Amino acid sequence: MLQYWDELDTQSKAKLLKQIESIDFDLFNHLVESTRCIENKTSEIEMSPSPFISLEDSSVDWNALTRTGEAMIRQGKLGVLTVAGGQGTRLGWSGPKGTFPATPVTGKSLFQVIAEQILFASQKYDVKIPWYIMTSIENDQITRSFLLDNNCFGLDRTDIFIFPQGVIPAVDENGKMLLAEKDVVFTNPDGHGGVISALNRSGALEEMASRSLEHLSYVQVDNPLIKVVDPTFLGLHCSDHSSGEVTSKCVTKSGPDERVGVFCKRGGSINIVEYIDMTVEQTHELKDGQLAYCCGSIAAHLFSTSFIKNAAGDLPWHISHKSIPHFDSTTGNKVSPAEPNAYKFERFVFDLLPLASNSIVMQTKREEEFAPIKNAQGIDSAQTSMKLQCDRAIAWLRACGVDVSEEAMVEISPTTAASIEDIREIELPTEIGSDEVVSL
Ligand code: UTP
Repeated sequence: MLQYWDELDTQSKAKLLKQIESIDFDLFNHLVESTRCIENKTSEIEMSPSPFISLEDSSVDWNALTRTGEAMIRQGKLGVLTVAGGQGTRLGWSGPKGTFPATPVTGKSLFQVIAEQILFASQKYDVKIPWYIMTSIENDQITRSFLLDNNCFGLDRTDIFIFPQGVIPAVDENGKMLLAEKDVVFTNPDGHGGVISALNRSGALEEMASRSLEHLSYVQVDNPLIKVVDPTFLGLHCSDHSSGEVTSKCVTKSGPDERVGVFCKRGGSINIVEYIDMTVEQTHELKDGQLAYCCGSIAAHLFSTSFIKNAAGDLPWHISHKSIPHFDSTTGNKVSPAEPNAYKFERFVFDLLPLASNSIVMQTKREEEFAPIKNAQGIDSAQTSMKLQCDRAIAWLRACGVDVSEEAMVEISPTTAASIEDIREIELPTEIGSDEVVSL
């Protein structure tokens, strides 16, 4: 870390010292040790398929659950938690991912889509629904400015709590840290699971307690179809089916090779296993003619605030072998290795699931709630997401009797409706033709 110390000016020395002081060396040493056992990792994870409750299951009284959820929302028990600290490497967008224009007709940003859903629900249920946004050190300021410049999309500024996630140094194959610059140790964001310690550190948990919040709707920033405030889901979470600690949404996997985490049972509790950690045999395994591991995670969960508070610090670290540009200690030049040269560490939010005494999974419809924007092109890109958003809008309108052409471009604003039932309340056109572009 101090290799270039003598070359640094006073300001750079102070900057480097401040960064070094912020590093948790006990944790770092522990992580270095964990890289030494990496070769011993077994290739097959022992697991069995996860149980789930489908929205199509007619033995469940979904109307009653929706009423329970609505009552909880009206009493001000629900807040929204968005993780938006990711680097969005695959998308390649220059700003924070939340500022990416995502909707098919009006090009609303991902942040606006979430903000407007919160606004709609706050008005519908006549209640404040606070929004907690995790940023990264890199995108924190720009996220704040973006929201303020856009008047928080109609939300009250005092109901938005923005906090940055932590960072963690990477370790090279000799157990050393790397220098990103001569006066900067290379660190990376500590993963979406860093949200637990960041909520603690930032005072967000106390803020939630002062509002008597009981549950958080956790959503990622990059799925504009997700129902951010979903009374039915909340009703299930608060019902006898669950311990009310964690409830998660899944969709049926589109095929064995879909790159989503999968719900499974391990050691008696519900877990999510990443697709890269499953063997080909596991991803293709069949049960009753269907994929055995069919429950794909869409990274939407309800967490009770008390559960989050108690879970702080308990999440494991995941290691990945990466190519990290750095200052080469022998030549003193900046190098960008073609091959992985170091280990990065991250925490994942889904590791909270096995900590719950009874975590449950609700299967929702993919076409209703899943249109992620991950890549610049191809699968899970803005193009595929916009098509799915448009398809859902058309399906909602058709369910209300509107004659809509398959080729029409339709967007339904989150401030207009959150469901087909809401659409029924508004005045609708009788017909939308193939060349029409409509925003409702
Ligand atoms: P992804 O795992 O898809 O990562 O994040 P990403 O950063 O958006 O994109 P890539 O992998 O670099 O291309 C899923 C969600 O978790 C958040 C992201 O902002 C996104 O909402 N996230 C991810 C964090 O908040 N912090 C992290 O350290 C990682």
